[in-house]
Amino acid sequence: MGKKILVVGQGGREHALVWKLSQSPQADKIYAAPGNPGIAQLAQCVDIAASDVSGLLDFARKEKIDLTVVGPEDPLMAGIVDAFKEQGLRIFGPTAKAAQLEGSKVFAKELMRKYNIPTAEYRVFDEPEAAIAFACSFTDRGQPVVIKADGLAAGKGVIIAAGSQEARQAVNEIMQERVFGDAGRRVVVEEFLEGEEVSVFALADGQRAVFLVAAQDHKRVFDNDQGPNTGGMGAYTHPPIYTQAVHEQVDRLILQPTVRAMAQEGCPYQGVLYAGLMITPSGPKVLEFNARFGDPETQVIMPVIEGDLLPLLEAAVDGDLSSVDIKVRPDYCVCVILASGGYPGTYQKGYPIKGLENLAENTLVFHAGTALQNGQLVTGGGRVMALVTRAGSMEEALTAVYSQIKHVHFTGMHYRTDIGRRAFNRRS
Ligand code: AMP
Ligand code: GLY
Repeated sequence: MGKKILVVGQGGREHALVWKLSQSPQADKIYAAPGNPGIAQLAQCVDIAASDVSGLLDFARKEKIDLTVVGPEDPLMAGIVDAFKEQGLRIFGPTAKAAQLEGSKVFAKELMRKYNIPTAEYRVFDEPEAAIAFACSFTDRGQPVVIKADGLAAGKGVIIAAGSQEARQAVNEIMQERVFGDAGRRVVVEEFLEGEEVSVFALADGQRAVFLVAAQDHKRVFDNDQGPNTGGMGAYTHPPIYTQAVHEQVDRLILQPTVRAMAQEGCPYQGVLYAGLMITPSGPKVLEFNARFGDPETQVIMPVIEGDLLPLLEAAVDGDLSSVDIKVRPDYCVCVILASGGYPGTYQKGYPIKGLENLAENTLVFHAGTALQNGQLVTGGGRVMALVTRAGSMEEALTAVYSQIKHVHFTGMHYRTDIGRRAFNRRS
């Protein structure tokens, strides 16, 4: 009998997961909670919020869901995996305790220190004056310093300060003004690392990590990494900085030791291990861990995974990835996010989205902030959708994706024109 799958979430990441899972010969029926209009073309959307753990649990029990796949971090921190497992339901993702690897920067840093996993030098503070004094010990030497709120802050809780005035202001905003709420009760103050960033994705089964793919995200809103940070304006697979030699170091010094460390600490880690790394002149170092797939990285990862994703996720849930064979295409896959005018600041919603029917067949469209209004597809969020193409060379993939964007239109639409270009230009 085919399997029933529930994907939790409503963004482009979840659309890409549903797209990939819908190709599984074992998948009989896919549900998404709450999903979006793009996902609705492949799955049945049910009106339960991703944060409504008890609502999701009731649904999964009633529908006898065979596997639940969690997209965003919030339900993981809220204990969705613990709640499902208690009821004997299979669910892909870490327990609340294991998800602290993302949910608490202090937890992640202490783990890395204890187990010698390479990361920036740091100290933890719960008093602003001491944090400021330590931060100034960097800036007084002319070095920038990084100040991080301990808890989840929707990707915004990190401030890089160039001078002592900025450092003081950053600590005060996080710890006194609590601009990130309780996430700022404690801070990590750490050394600024120079290098190039890469996102590494692995599956973990509690005992070991199995590498999937490396990708690069583009966080700033404008070309040439200008303007404020966003949730991510584009991504591509197989960044040239992630060489085989770098990969071997990452696997040996970061991925495997992290999964072993979590087991030793009594919170075995199962799910996606997403390591945000800086490739520094002295080797790869961890900037942060995430306990889930990346968005928009998932939109480029899913198209390069060969074969069926479902057995891979099930093997991670069942605690044994030792015999799975993950095949990844060497192809370059590029994603460009089409965003609402004003994003990541304030923006209007409800503008009709036109032209999707004119896209070439090999262009993938993953919806994020879209909505239906009287049967018309309209904008409904900051990051509206992703256009994705895959090709044997980066040039081809880039040319293809940018040639398709001109077909799509909505009022205020903007996007970066330089996704992937810098890294690949540098190489040639
Ligand atoms: P995080 O949420 O910890 O990954 O931080 C968000 C962003 O801040 C990262 O993607 C980096 O661009 C930057 N960042 C964080 N920590 C450091 C560091 N120690 N050195 C340089 N940049 C950093
Ligand atoms: N692409 C960054 C993230 O998913 O956190």
